[in-house]
Amino acid sequence: MCGIVGYVGDKQVAPILINGLKKLEYRGYDSAGIAVFNNNELEVIKCKGRLAVLEARVGKENLKGRLGIGHTRWATHGEPNDVNSHPHLSKSGKIAVVHNGIIENYMKLKEFLQSKGYNFISDTDTEVIAHLVEYHYKGCLIDAVIDSINELEGSYALGVICSECPDEFIAARKDSPLIVGLGKNENFIASDIPAILEYTREIYILEDKEVVLLKKDSVKVFNIHGAEVKKKPFHVNWDVAAAEKSGYEHFMLKEMYEEPKVIKDTINPRIKDGMIALDDIKITVEDLNNIDKIYIVACGTAYHAGVIGKYMIEKLARIPVEVDVASEFRYRNPLISERSMAIIISQSGETLDTLFALREARKKGARTLSIVNVVGSSISRESDDVLYTWAGPEIAVASTKAYNTQLSALYLIALDFAQKKGCIDKADYERIMDGLKKVPEAIEQVLADKEIIQKFASQHYNAKSIFFIGRGLDYALSMEGSLKLKEISYIHSEAYAGGELKHGTIALIEKGTLVVCPMTQDSLLEKMISNIKEVKARGATVLAITQKKNKEVKKVADMVITIPDIDSDAAPIAAVTPMQLFAYYMAVLKGCDVDKPRNLAKSVTVE
Ligand code: AGP
Repeated sequence: MCGIVGYVGDKQVAPILINGLKKLEYRGYDSAGIAVFNNNELEVIKCKGRLAVLEARVGKENLKGRLGIGHTRWATHGEPNDVNSHPHLSKSGKIAVVHNGIIENYMKLKEFLQSKGYNFISDTDTEVIAHLVEYHYKGCLIDAVIDSINELEGSYALGVICSECPDEFIAARKDSPLIVGLGKNENFIASDIPAILEYTREIYILEDKEVVLLKKDSVKVFNIHGAEVKKKPFHVNWDVAAAEKSGYEHFMLKEMYEEPKVIKDTINPRIKDGMIALDDIKITVEDLNNIDKIYIVACGTAYHAGVIGKYMIEKLARIPVEVDVASEFRYRNPLISERSMAIIISQSGETLDTLFALREARKKGARTLSIVNVVGSSISRESDDVLYTWAGPEIAVASTKAYNTQLSALYLIALDFAQKKGCIDKADYERIMDGLKKVPEAIEQVLADKEIIQKFASQHYNAKSIFFIGRGLDYALSMEGSLKLKEISYIHSEAYAGGELKHGTIALIEKGTLVVCPMTQDSLLEKMISNIKEVKARGATVLAITQKKNKEVKKVADMVITIPDIDSDAAPIAAVTPMQLFAYYMAVLKGCDVDKPRNLAKSVTVE
């Protein structure tokens, strides 16, 4: 996620902005910048790269000023470079804006502003906000900001300053966090508490669609209708380390809590008038009709997402799909050709095995489409098309929110390809779209009930080996549930197709063996109930994960974690979260280093 800092007071603002942004570095970024009100004009310094680069540039300019805003950018729209970094200036240069979030209707607003003579220099959605505020500005900055945000769709945390208002600046938020720091003759904004903790522990936590007018000796909060809102200050008693995780004990838990938002961020901007519109990729019906096979290639968690992608693309778009781990793909001389498409999945976009597999596919003439979380990463740059997941930076080594958004992207692709090939009827298309829309809320419910999972984990964290079994999409889910458990709790685990257990592995099931069963597929429920009975007959303890409506599961499983009733096809995106939470609590109870497990790296850039 991007980082925002703003200040108005009696101190020199540049060092406060840089220092605050440094406290937000853990959030991940690829460029940074500040805008300072200095002797009656706005000065903007911004550049690609680390904060040290910005700091050196600021030092040279010897920037003076007591009001300003700063930003660290995690690229979503537009490559990481100087022009795309924030702050962005309006047409006249008198208004500067920093933004965290995604403006879903930015193209429509951009076309409107261009028709009014506004020229754009960046590829970002944020630049639209700077020009829009100027378009509405008639001498009162907060009115211009309120008028502007009433036209924005999507998520935003904003800082806005204007050279005609040297003693005040504006902030606003919707879906992206923003706080106000309350000081003595100074006030702050920040996207997260660590940025201002050394200056004040008294804050306002802004609610969605609240707008703030900050001066050095006053802070006023308004709703989007312009009515003042009374806020109660919150006293922060966290230490800095806790504050970096927004109060969560680990980044992994914090990132699971971000899943509802980042799934919406990944899906919603790609739906127009109820239909999927993948404007990011240039794959036509003719291109698709020329494809006789799709190869999905990835590693680890991304590979597990690919297995679900296979099921969904074959089911909906009727195109044959083969899924490979990247380290195998490139050494088996794959039968890939000009009539193939390679879908490459990678959170980091830098995994070397996956990058080499991409190059192998390109060398053999395949059309390459990558699903990547890091904008401008090697894999994204070397692919013909990229469908970005907008999960924001994932700090914990164990992937959670990135996996959920990879699935979201794969569902969009499967539906879009099916629609283009004319092999999905309206009812099925709408059924699955409706299921996707319900996923964020379903995950919120799972997270709200997390103590049930924590309690169950407290009874099993000394297990020596745990099995995950499932059928169809749930088999692919089992793979991910098993990997999550292994990589952070160091407990041995295996994932098995439910129907495969009886062909050997069931010999390992004995009294007390824990078997985890994701059961979201209506058509396979009865079969899975039989599998539960098989392992129960050998003494197993069974944890089932299923929709609330499947009451019969409670009669056979020892423990049932329910998710809200959601269509079987879309359910895996929500049903993985209970397994992520299960792995998380098992690791916490074992005292493992949850965010930085032994032997693992976040991005494996070696073979
Ligand atoms: C995920 O929990 C693991 N840390 C690991 O399997 C990861 O998914 C794999 O290394 C691929 O990384 P990528 O998505 O960045 O390519």
